[in-house]
Amino acid sequence: MHLRRFTLPAGVLAFAVGMVVGAGPASAASCPWMNPGQSPASRTSELLGAMSLADKVQMVTGTGEFNPTSANPEAASTIAANPSLCIPALVLNDATNGVGDQQQLTTAFPDSIALASSWDPALAEQYGAALGAEAFAKGVNVLLGPGVDIARNPLNGRNFEYMGEDPYLAGQSAAAVIEGIQSQHVIATVKHYALNDQETDRTTDSSDASERTMQEIDLPAFDAAVKAGVGAVMCSYNRINSVYACQNPYTLRDVLDEQFGFTGFVMSDWGANHSTVASADAGLEMEMPGGVGTSPEYYGSSLQTAVQDGQVSMGTLNEMVSRILYSMFRIGLFDHVPTEGAQAAATPATTPTSIAMATKVAEEGTVLLKNAGGVLPLSGPGRTIAVIGPAAGQPGATLAEQGYGSGHVPEFSYQPGVVSPLQAITARAAQAGDIVTYADGDATDDAVAAAKAADAAIVFINDVEIEGADRPDLDAHAGTCSFLDFASSNSCTYTPLDENTLVSAVAAANPNTIVVIQSGDPIAMPWVDQVRGILENWYPGQVDGDAIAPVLFGDVDPSGRLPITFPVSLSDDPLQTAAQYPGVMEAGDSVGPHSTYSEGLLVGYRWYDAEGITPLFPFGYGLSYTSFRYSGVSVTRTASGAQVSFTVTNTGSRAGADVPQVYVGDPPAVGEPPEQLKGFRRVSLAPGQSETVTIALDPMSFAYWNTQSQTWTLSAGTYRVMVGSSSSDIAGQGSVALPGMNLGG
Ligand code: BGC
Repeated sequence: MHLRRFTLPAGVLAFAVGMVVGAGPASAASCPWMNPGQSPASRTSELLGAMSLADKVQMVTGTGEFNPTSANPEAASTIAANPSLCIPALVLNDATNGVGDQQQLTTAFPDSIALASSWDPALAEQYGAALGAEAFAKGVNVLLGPGVDIARNPLNGRNFEYMGEDPYLAGQSAAAVIEGIQSQHVIATVKHYALNDQETDRTTDSSDASERTMQEIDLPAFDAAVKAGVGAVMCSYNRINSVYACQNPYTLRDVLDEQFGFTGFVMSDWGANHSTVASADAGLEMEMPGGVGTSPEYYGSSLQTAVQDGQVSMGTLNEMVSRILYSMFRIGLFDHVPTEGAQAAATPATTPTSIAMATKVAEEGTVLLKNAGGVLPLSGPGRTIAVIGPAAGQPGATLAEQGYGSGHVPEFSYQPGVVSPLQAITARAAQAGDIVTYADGDATDDAVAAAKAADAAIVFINDVEIEGADRPDLDAHAGTCSFLDFASSNSCTYTPLDENTLVSAVAAANPNTIVVIQSGDPIAMPWVDQVRGILENWYPGQVDGDAIAPVLFGDVDPSGRLPITFPVSLSDDPLQTAAQYPGVMEAGDSVGPHSTYSEGLLVGYRWYDAEGITPLFPFGYGLSYTSFRYSGVSVTRTASGAQVSFTVTNTGSRAGADVPQVYVGDPPAVGEPPEQLKGFRRVSLAPGQSETVTIALDPMSFAYWNTQSQTWTLSAGTYRVMVGSSSSDIAGQGSVALPGMNLGG
């Protein structure tokens, strides 16, 4: 047996001996750790010393999924309160696209990929705060997000819940969301740790990756979350190099605790724990959902027996409990206890602030992919605009606004006032003096007739995506999905509507055809040359109508930039073999298939650049209704690395926002991809206005993971520093010579 790793800040466990208080009624006197004047470490230590074995086991074991007798039956699970020790219940609820599960009267926010697409950490922090405030109003004090698994695979059914394909962008976005959530005294949970990059065989598959690939591609966003102070980490369903993620000593102990310095707790994904002793020793602090009968329970009474038998040491259990309590004290859960019960269930959590936030995220995250002849924004008066497609016509419907699964906010949550894109466009067109007609697209002839009779046609196409299943191909498929739970196989049923045929037919009937895509992933566009305008709208949540109308009419500049590469076709994708995806069975392993990450560091744009393959739309790409120029790129060496300065000028006639991006190219001998994102800045500029941007690049921006020394290492040499509007469009560059350096683990 191995007594684990990192210990809490000095003294936490030292206090915790022999101070058991009786189970009498709680009061400030009987719970001295309720004094907020003490440090979280002292409070943790005092409370731990007062806990019996049963108290401790209760603290690490969930009470089952949607347990009707728990503090909050609408939540994904709870840890029971312990009133005699003044410990509040932990109420754990999903999270990646709003306060979902079975909560009512919460906001269905745009999905996480839309937030990442805004490249706006300041907005992400405000969004996190809005999410945290809604959670608290519903009695939730642990949110099960954000998700930062890297979009290795464009077919992954859960990319909508994540932050794209680049570790730096994902880390920056997630860190900001975490700071926002935790400002509301709600613990954030970064998930799914780690390499949970496909839904096919998600509970048995082994993601097999080299250490360097994990360190450089899959794990840095989790490191950024830890550095942002995240209180909890959720280990994933899959195996990593043959070992289940929730009992994997490398990822949990060596990397998360020792390398990243995590002081909070790890909870299992729902049903992802497979053992008692191995998990406790490896660093799984909390089993979810727990509850005998709802899933196999390896903690609870099994853990209690293991401690009594000496298979799990009391030291290990103490550390497990301490880590949970420490996050609770540090983030303020003892001092800010939300209301539970019927009152919380009936409380509307959605607010005008949240809805404004959701609208801003949807607007800023929407990416203008094509705008031939300036077909957008629409300009009246007196025009007829044909709106086409089922996704346009359904207010607050199940069809279009969010991905499915645990991240979905149920429709019964929506408030009155939710309008469809059709309603919002009709209202905005009336102001402009335009007329809107509608065809749902089920009958192509009706859609073509509407398009022919109009000055412009806007086709809404939709792809339904779901947790628990991958997409069959890159095409957009409309339909409906049913999400049962983690243990069941989930699926979508597609409608017979062929959206590619619909777009081509409309485009043939009207030269001013604009496509609005609602999806959580890249989609193929065989009609890309047939249409004038394309907007990637992601899943905008309940504000889909209110956010798209201002973009279409130019009240708002679409300023999103792609957080994921859009390939022309799957044959260009880095995942070329079954061994890479969906994985193959290996001799001697009957648990499940292995997906081998043989593409190594070449994920997303790193692959397209290295192979010289032109994607449909590159990572970082997005147009604006105005235009920008970059000038005066200068790269200088600083004491701790380098800095790059340049000037961005709005050269067009409208106000707009741009996101200049900084990529680093290492000396060839290091074996890194040709260029990697290491900085970006969102700038809003009036017509003609310029701004000088300076971005600091710390030594880590230039480092690679040195497997031999187990450290981040800077190789001596000359590094290119490039400034561009996407990974494929570099406007200027400089270089910096750096000495070799060992940056530690
Ligand atoms: C999902 C998690 C989610 C949990 C609780 C699981 O099926 O993978 O992301 O947080 O359920 O709903």
